[in-house]
Amino acid sequence: MTANVNQGLWTAVDEYLNEVLVGADESLEHALAHSTDAGLPAIAVSPTQGKFMMMLARVQGARRILEIGTLGAYSTIWFAKALPADGRIITIESEPKHAEVARENIEAAGFGGMVDVRLGKALDVLPDISAENLGPFDFTFIDADKPNIPEYFDWALRLSHSGSIIIVDNVIREGAVIDADSEDASVQGVRRLNDRLARESSVTVTTLQTVGGKGYDGFTIALVN
Ligand code: SAH
Ligand code: DHB
Ligand code: MG
Repeated sequence: MTANVNQGLWTAVDEYLNEVLVGADESLEHALAHSTDAGLPAIAVSPTQGKFMMMLARVQGARRILEIGTLGAYSTIWFAKALPADGRIITIESEPKHAEVARENIEAAGFGGMVDVRLGKALDVLPDISAENLGPFDFTFIDADKPNIPEYFDWALRLSHSGSIIIVDNVIREGAVIDADSEDASVQGVRRLNDRLARESSVTVTTLQTVGGKGYDGFTIALVN
């Protein structure tokens, strides 16, 4: 990522917000520390983003959540906090090491009975989830490899109902999203999603740009009509 002169300030403000508004949480902090110790990349959603999605899932009354891209289950644990005791999360991860760390973190957070970590490439696992009738999901978080974002969105839509929310992470990419000629497959993944959304009448959708400790990025929020 290119450096931004404001990055230090964005990070400091995120730290301030985490301290005054998000607060310490043992299971989330353990999940991050254990992920770092295990050598996982530091690319989980930020605390304020995790809390925002938790609140959105709670407002919606979500009971079933689908996540594509688990990493060490930091976002997964935020979602688990939104759910009632009989809620369910299915989260898909293709890296065995990540899935292993995620399972340990979920167990340590006390959500072992609520979360199913599915190991495999999302495009292989999603047809199984559909065939097993595990949907529809009230909320889907798309946060795996970016070139496949449009395909993941199609699956999310197929596994949704009227009122479902679909969030797609990392859709601004430091502004690179506006470059139609970008040779970055992740940028083109986002652009294909946006082209598809422009023609999609079954969702009400917006995208918010974000800055913070994770740089300049953003997420798309779709509400299924
Ligand atoms: N949602 C997590 C971060 C996910 S990072 C959080 O906020 O805490 C993206 C994850 O997607 C990585 O762990 C990566 O291994 C996984 N991934 C990449 N390609 C994938 C694929 N094709 N199928 C499933 N997972 C994939
Ligand atoms: C990366 C992936 C993410 O989901 C994210 O939020 C930030 C970075 C990455 O692959 O570099
Ligand atoms: Mg992400």
